[in-house]
Amino acid sequence: MASGPKLFGERVALQYESWYATAQGRRADAEEKDALGSLLECFPRARSVLEVGCGTGHFTRWLGHQGLGAVGLDISLAMLAQVQVLDGVPLVRSDALRLPFADGAFDLVAFITTLEFLERPRNALAEALRVARQGLLLGVLNRWSPLGLLRRIVGLQRSTVYDTARFFGSAELRRLLRSVAGEEARVVWRQALLPRGWPRALGQIPWGGFIGMALVVDSAR
Ligand SMILES: C[S@@+](CC[C@H](N)C(=O)[O-])C[C@H]1O[C@@H](n2cnc3c(N)ncnc32)[C@H](O)[C@@H]1O
Repeated sequence: MASGPKLFGERVALQYESWYATAQGRRADAEEKDALGSLLECFPRARSVLEVGCGTGHFTRWLGHQGLGAVGLDISLAMLAQVQVLDGVPLVRSDALRLPFADGAFDLVAFITTLEFLERPRNALAEALRVARQGLLLGVLNRWSPLGLLRRIVGLQRSTVYDTARFFGSAELRRLLRSVAGEEARVVWRQALLPRGWPRALGQIPWGGFIGMALVVDSAR
């Protein structure tokens, strides 16, 4: 798998935010934020969040607008440079595997379309849980969505950064989270970007392009 810093260089960084202004990007943005917003309700006492793999800060800014003290962390200087151009959320350059924070430094740690690019996602989740008091908020591209399946059938085109990503299924992600947090951990999921015209009655089948998941480790704190 290509690594984050090599992959997310200046060429990708300069174009990254403009995708959210396309019709496809606007739909993804609205539906993904809807799913993530609903998952944030699992953490009514959360006041702070670290977004690991914040990229251009697109979701870090949004998390800040949800009333959370949001900090962005990324390994790519080129992506972080764009955050500075766009606005000024607090930023840290570091690796998801070695977060430069004390245990329990944040209420939440979020990974939004970042886990797919990490070479050791399980280790990164364990490190995130070390610094998160209340839990994790995840958004991943779904391996079992029509797009995910098409990638598997026709192969990868290597034309966008996502062609190098490792998509996750919802059951797989749940298992991964429980392997890190314990079988008793509470996991809640939502999906976005279901195929157009998808029957409402089938709404619980995880075929959406985007899977959001909350891992609640301690709702009492
Ligand atoms: C697809 S972008 C997601 C950006 C943002 N979360 C969003 O959804 O718009 C993935 C980000 O993960 C970052 N990344 C990859 N490997 C990383 C690592 N080991 N540590 C920290 N960030 C990493 C990349 O630099 C990139 O900015």
